[in-house]
Amino acid sequence: MKRADRMQSIQPFHVMALLARARELEAEGRTIIHMEIGEPDFVTPQPVIDAGIRALQEGYTHYTPAVGLQVLRERIAEFYKQRYDVDVEPRRVIVTPGASAALQLILAAVVNPGEQVLMADPGYPCNRNFVYLLNGQPLGISVTAASNYQPTSQQVRDYWTTQTAALLVASPSNPTGTLLGEHTLREYHAIAAAQGGCLIVDEIYHGLVYGEQASTALAISDEIFVVNSFSKYFGMTGWRLGWLIAPQAYVTDIDKLAQNLFLAAPTIAQYAALKAFDEESIDILEARRREFQQRRDYLLPALCDIGFDIPAIPDGAFYLYANCSRFTDDSFSFSSRLLEEAGVAITPGIDFGVNQPETHVRFAYTTSLENLQEGVRRLREYLS
Ligand SMILES: Cc1ncc(COP(=O)(O)O)c(C=O)c1O
Repeated sequence: MKRADRMQSIQPFHVMALLARARELEAEGRTIIHMEIGEPDFVTPQPVIDAGIRALQEGYTHYTPAVGLQVLRERIAEFYKQRYDVDVEPRRVIVTPGASAALQLILAAVVNPGEQVLMADPGYPCNRNFVYLLNGQPLGISVTAASNYQPTSQQVRDYWTTQTAALLVASPSNPTGTLLGEHTLREYHAIAAAQGGCLIVDEIYHGLVYGEQASTALAISDEIFVVNSFSKYFGMTGWRLGWLIAPQAYVTDIDKLAQNLFLAAPTIAQYAALKAFDEESIDILEARRREFQQRRDYLLPALCDIGFDIPAIPDGAFYLYANCSRFTDDSFSFSSRLLEEAGVAITPGIDFGVNQPETHVRFAYTTSLENLQEGVRRLREYLS
């Protein structure tokens, strides 16, 4: 049977097999504490759901322009002004089917076959596969807790070659929850600009930051690609809606790609998302953000107390990336044993790259504080 060569490079999420096994155990009557799931446990805020229902009832069931509803693009631009005091031209806002599509559109617009895209390892697993899809080469930069699990500017300089098309970073990051400082972002931008390449900053977890509010990379330059989404902070994973802000020179190309690849983002979701920025929705989302913070503030010391090592403070997202070498040098079978024997599901490091995955696991605090407490109780009992 004919099969494209790239299929050998593209890996499934290993955690999916774990999740399927967790569901089997649940069907047998076991209770499983889920700390592997990468989406908020909360449902979409009610004002957004109501707006989606209204849009359906009013018959908004056709395509929108490929770059999204003009009112939504304007509303997103306004959000940058309100939240970050940054001016963004609505015509640079492109509404997409999730951050996933935003990343694919940007990479398709800038990466030639054979060219490299630099990214942190550990990092979001889909990124390297998006690059494989374009016959490009993802190049993982091994990052450590010493640089907050983000590439240092020296590493970026060292890794950049004439074959490098772009640097793709995330702040806060998945799986580590760590942020990039403005100084580092400025340096990345200067390196990319000097080399004639692109800087792409994935800000999908931006609303979920627990210290001082992070500033967007758009505050540094209009020449940076910024990706965001309604999935995480806005609690709309299933609506499949995100956006990107492109440098003006790329808007026409990305519009052309969006027309061909997706036609448009889901219409109902776009109408619903218009309500996501209203005060009523933001109040709900901010209360949830505080709850995520409480969960992190509980889980971080509790895991360290059991013996996991979490050397870089995760200031955002809903993940803790933990060194588990005190218990194992095979985090994959360790995660599997924790599921089978302790009823706790977590994600093994292997899903995030090749930089010491065997001694790392990711905990997601996308479940209630009570569930986290029960998870910690089980882990403590099992590991002691
Ligand atoms: C860092 C990062 N970027 C992008 C995505 C894709 O999100 P979506 O397509 O739901 O907007 C995810 C999802 O987990 C993510 O963690």
